Amino acid sequence: MENTEELRSQLEYIDKLKAITDDHLNDTGRKISCAVVTFGCQMNARDSEKLTGILEKAGFDVTEDEKGADLVIYNTCTIRDNANQKLYGHLGTLKAIKKSRPSLKIALCGCMMQEQSVIENISKNYKFVDLVFGTHNIYKFAELLYRTYTSDSQIIDIWEDTDQIVESLPVKRKYPYKSGVNIMFGCNNFCSYCIVPYVRGRERSREPVEIIREIERLVADGVVEVMLLGQNVNSYGRGLEGDITFAGLLREIEKIEGLRRIRFMTSHPKDLSDELIEVMASSKKICKHIHLPLQSGSDRILKDMNRRYTKEHYLALAQKIRAAIPDIAITTDIIIGFPGETKEDVDETIDVINKVCYDNAFTFIYSKRTGTPAAAREDQVEEAFAKEQFNRVLEAVRECSAKQNSKLTGHIEEALVESICEHDDTMVTGRLSNNSMVHFKGDSTLIGTIVPVRLTKSCGFYYIGESEQKES
Ligand code: 5AD
Ligand code: SF4
Repeated sequence: MENTEELRSQLEYIDKLKAITDDHLNDTGRKISCAVVTFGCQMNARDSEKLTGILEKAGFDVTEDEKGADLVIYNTCTIRDNANQKLYGHLGTLKAIKKSRPSLKIALCGCMMQEQSVIENISKNYKFVDLVFGTHNIYKFAELLYRTYTSDSQIIDIWEDTDQIVESLPVKRKYPYKSGVNIMFGCNNFCSYCIVPYVRGRERSREPVEIIREIERLVADGVVEVMLLGQNVNSYGRGLEGDITFAGLLREIEKIEGLRRIRFMTSHPKDLSDELIEVMASSKKICKHIHLPLQSGSDRILKDMNRRYTKEHYLALAQKIRAAIPDIAITTDIIIGFPGETKEDVDETIDVINKVCYDNAFTFIYSKRTGTPAAAREDQVEEAFAKEQFNRVLEAVRECSAKQNSKLTGHIEEALVESICEHDDTMVTGRLSNNSMVHFKGDSTLIGTIVPVRLTKSCGFYYIGESEQKES
């Protein structure tokens, strides 16, 4: 249940901030400008839309200009070490800017801030940062920002966890026609390499009625495609009253009139039910795409990763999905260089890649995350060896995705038009149900609409097509 008292309190802080931005506008003739810079996954992208919603309501001028803004907020990621390094790079640049422009305010939030060692580093070595908060108290952003504007000292507010739900705060969507929707937060899986359960806390599902209400509002506001977000959507409903499952939730969402497309991520293979496959096969709205992280094809490594499925189980699952939903695109995540991984283990991974023939795969070199069980292992893999294996995996992925990405040539498919084509402004770019992109002749009036397109040519990662839309 939403905490309405907290909601009211945060709305009051938005008003107080508005008084500050109004004063600034009266004094200087311009608004306080603010840039929100997002790292990482779709969850973070959605969180940034919440931050932006509050900022706009509080009278800030939201800009993309990170170097020129009066307030810069970094919404951070810590899934791999390079995400952390990226933030420190940006902070180095801002430190120099703040020296010549001391009124600049800097705020940090997101997953990286949930790490003790990061907070120690920021409070000791990055004193020029004004505000630091975490993933559990993001709903207090207005209050924390108000405190930042009314005090001179660095404010750090990090919570270990939360059971609070405050969800009716303003949100500013990046795209008018599509939106992410959180259906659950946190993760309970504790894959041995992964920091997410430590920084995003325990798994919590949102009530179905709240999710449906949010999507209905989005649809009324012009959204035609939703992406349901959770670290492990297949375990949706655990801990809620009643017997709601993810498949059951999808059935309810399917009924929402005006909603045209449903996507979701991420699916953990160990929890993917037959019921879900049935719902996907019979649905008219669920897109023909599933992201099904493999991580490794070696049973030994999967066990050490605490993934709780085997190569055989995964292959059987992929086959079942392809048999039930013939045109479906399957994508995956793969980690190379997990502690103790050998060339033979990677051979197993490549075997799965060839057998499933992925439409696309995100490949990552293992990154040691402090506090996770895998980080404590002594058999960490040499970087050069990992890179070599990484290249082998990449080659296998390329071959498969090239094969898959010409599959629809000659078909007529519906495309949701997302933008003007970057390389040719007489064309638009649309997304197919299977997540492939298509470029075809058209103009900006098509953005946000769903157009039938004949896919005339495959160009590797995208198609060229022709609109089949009848003139009205
Ligand atoms: N090192 C490398 N990749 C990782 N991932 C998660 N943790 C790590 C890590 N420590 C990858 C997994 C996951 C994706 C979001 O990021 O493949 O599915
Ligand atoms: Fe990390 Fe595993 Fe949870 Fe995914 S399921 S967020 S990889 S712990």
